[in-house]
Amino acid sequence: MKPVKIGIAGLGTVGSGTVNVLERNADEITRRAGRAMEVTRALVQDPRKARGCALDGIALTTDPKELLDDPEIEVIVELMGGADGLAHDFVMQSISRGKHVVTANKAMIAVNGNEIFERAHAAGVMVAFEAAVAGGICIIKVIREGLSGNRVNRLAGIINGTGNFILSEMRSGHRGFDDVLAEAQRLGYAEADPTFDVEGVDAAHKLTILSSIAFGIPLQFSRVYTEGISRIKPEDVLNAAELGYRIKHLGIAARVEDGFELRVHPCMIPEERLIANVEGVMNAILVEGDAVGPTLHYGAGAGAEPTASAVVADLVDVVRALTTDPNNRVPHLAFQPDALSDLPVLPIDRIHSAYYLHLKAVNRPGVLAEITRILGDLHISIQAIQQKGNGDSEAIMPIVIVTQVTREDNMNQALAQLSSLGTVTGEITRIRLEHLEWD
Ligand code: NAP
Ligand code: HSE
Repeated sequence: MKPVKIGIAGLGTVGSGTVNVLERNADEITRRAGRAMEVTRALVQDPRKARGCALDGIALTTDPKELLDDPEIEVIVELMGGADGLAHDFVMQSISRGKHVVTANKAMIAVNGNEIFERAHAAGVMVAFEAAVAGGICIIKVIREGLSGNRVNRLAGIINGTGNFILSEMRSGHRGFDDVLAEAQRLGYAEADPTFDVEGVDAAHKLTILSSIAFGIPLQFSRVYTEGISRIKPEDVLNAAELGYRIKHLGIAARVEDGFELRVHPCMIPEERLIANVEGVMNAILVEGDAVGPTLHYGAGAGAEPTASAVVADLVDVVRALTTDPNNRVPHLAFQPDALSDLPVLPIDRIHSAYYLHLKAVNRPGVLAEITRILGDLHISIQAIQQKGNGDSEAIMPIVIVTQVTREDNMNQALAQLSSLGTVTGEITRIRLEHLEWD
């Protein structure tokens, strides 16, 4: 049988990794897919740039039409990035021409996926996106297919490799934030705009996708509460360690009584939890189904070949399914498109959590009592409180408080009242604390 012809849009970190894996493992991949695959054209921005892969048999172009109008190309692999603009137009045009699509572009899927899948469903083409979430971990396949007998109740995961690399190095290597971020960029882990990694946007894109396939809801990126790691200070990392916790950036999705919680933010986790010990660029996702119980999925969350591993797995799936009836393929978002739930995503002030607070206050008799009274009046129980510093009267002393579980809007009121005390100075750090007893 003739090889399946593939056009790749984007030959950077992931694109080059994909060409290398396809080349190196060509025999194994052909034995699995049933047909050989051949990359014949690649769309790039600068054809003179050095590439991380051999270009044998690949014609480089800066014109998207050369891929779109090539009747021999059956599958497009989109690895340029960006929610809108070229990547989105290119994917929509590929679908219109009946070409199947494989993409690693979580921003595009999270923001425009509902439209893309509707168009793909109507056209009978596949849009595969395993590499969009957690790099090399096959978490889309696990949730969409492996756990399809379950009602998924909740999931929580470290789903941004760059962020986890930064937090790990801050804790164990005592390195500065900017230095570690620069290394993550050099290693090809970070997004083109690294604020997406450090401000939680990339994790929110991924959580949007995970929640949709876990709960059978439309993709709702704008409803995800999003907070990044840029305000985590080295002293918070040390305080967490002293208290027996690790700070991780988590994406959390949960089914609650009247809707769904979708949130990404830094989290303190007891250090004995498996997920608290996931370090560097590794990702891990805890998924709880009613039948299977808790499951934990671990692997490299970014980088050329781990991500290429997922891209190539999608290519194998697409090639195997080329001749199948489109109506009998696995639905893009796991559930049949006409069977999605319209239960709402709840606002963040409705969640329940424990909290770590770090504030600075004047060391004066009665100040601690004032702080604990504010928390007590709002029915917030204190689990631990530590006053740090040398004890000099009238000095500014750091105070660390760990609370028991309360509703987020209670904590918001407490923070507003604490900030308005004349004896409290500067910004109060609040980090949510999850015990993750289900891991
Ligand atoms: P990258 O290294 O920056 O590569 C992007 C590629 O797209 C480059 O080859 C670039 O061409 C090409 N490109 C960009 N704009 C273009 C334009 N206007 N016209 C033609 N070509 C254009 O990015 P990457 O890290 O491989 O990421 C690609 C996608 O995978 C993104 O959606 C990213 O979020 C996703 N992803 C990345 C990772 C990772 O670990 N890096 C993991 C999972 C998912 P030139 O080379 O000529 O500049
Ligand atoms: N920038 C992303 C990360 C790439 O660091 O996780 C993988 O999606």
